Amino acid sequence: MRILGIESSCDETAASVVEDGRRILSSVVASQLDTHAKYGGVVPELASREHLRSVVPVVREALDSANTTLDQLAAIAVTQGPGLVGSLLVGITYAKSLCFARGLPLIGVNHIEGHIHAVVMEVAGTLEFPVLALVVSGGHTHLFEVKDGFSYRLLGKTRDDAAGEAFDKVAKLLGYGYPGGPIIDRLAPSGNPRAVKFTLARMKGNTLDFSFSGLKTAVLRWVESHDMGEEIAARRQSHSITTEDWLRVTPPATLDLLASFQYTVIEELLRRAVASAQTIGAKAIIVSGGVACNTGLRSSSAALRLPYPVYFPTAGLSTDNAAMIAAAAFPKFTRSEFSGFDLAALANLTLA
Ligand code: KG4
Ligand code: ZN
Repeated sequence: MRILGIESSCDETAASVVEDGRRILSSVVASQLDTHAKYGGVVPELASREHLRSVVPVVREALDSANTTLDQLAAIAVTQGPGLVGSLLVGITYAKSLCFARGLPLIGVNHIEGHIHAVVMEVAGTLEFPVLALVVSGGHTHLFEVKDGFSYRLLGKTRDDAAGEAFDKVAKLLGYGYPGGPIIDRLAPSGNPRAVKFTLARMKGNTLDFSFSGLKTAVLRWVESHDMGEEIAARRQSHSITTEDWLRVTPPATLDLLASFQYTVIEELLRRAVASAQTIGAKAIIVSGGVACNTGLRSSSAALRLPYPVYFPTAGLSTDNAAMIAAAAFPKFTRSEFSGFDLAALANLTLA
């Protein structure tokens, strides 16, 4: 039972064929990083145009390398939202056209549910519910109770910046490139995580909510009071420099700042994830989304030695991909939860 997944919610055009919700036969991701890097973030109009250019060859490559024809598909799954509307529309329109032409069922998938299934598909045989899912990416920082493979309850979320967004903004503020997460992840282990003490504001209301904008401002204040103008300006002038080069030329005090920033983000994420897991009596924690690549987050969660497993996706499934969309569609397919041709792109689609 093969499902073709199509993902185009942000700056990656992706397609994948997944068999029985678990076996990845192909996963193709066309990244637009080079297009957006010089602007320090994703430019929505450019993203839509890139998706238009890529969607047909990416889907064709996914089918070819899975040795699968359209006739062999059981359904086509596509990201409905959340994301950039112009980008989502490209994937949705193409998926609808293929379904219409071939008489295939269409399945709209929530991008966040996709991130959760990036892990569920890998550990499906051993996963016990309820599960606490921490979805951390450039656009989301959410805690969900996953009651079974397909129903969710929102426990907490960021009230301002997403964790990945905080990584990207702090990197940009300090003159590094985009995306900031992988750069900070590489530099932070060379600094002292306790060098700068960031105190975060107490949360009123739901204590499982996150807030990262105060931390970003605290980094800005630190930068302003440490005369870093020249150092940052010099970095902004450096083009096509690799992360390894950044590691060689970044002063120790800046490495300490980055290490302390990353340490604080990880502390916040894990503290609330563990508290939520306790609240629901979770049998496992799932961490997914682009920030789940972070080596500090992975090692810190292992160091907690929790009495239940903490699962992260394997490389390639943490950041945006279409295998997770096809996998999330599988339980919907088995319950005949199909979408109509009126499936709309929803920028703010929620999961629960
Ligand atoms: O899931 P994703 O590919 O796209 C969204 O749905 O947003 O996540 C991208 C985000 C970016 O903010 C990027 O900086 C962050 O994930 N990221 C990381 C790492 N790799 C990617 N953040 C921290 N450490 C990393 N190694
Ligand atoms: Zn994502």
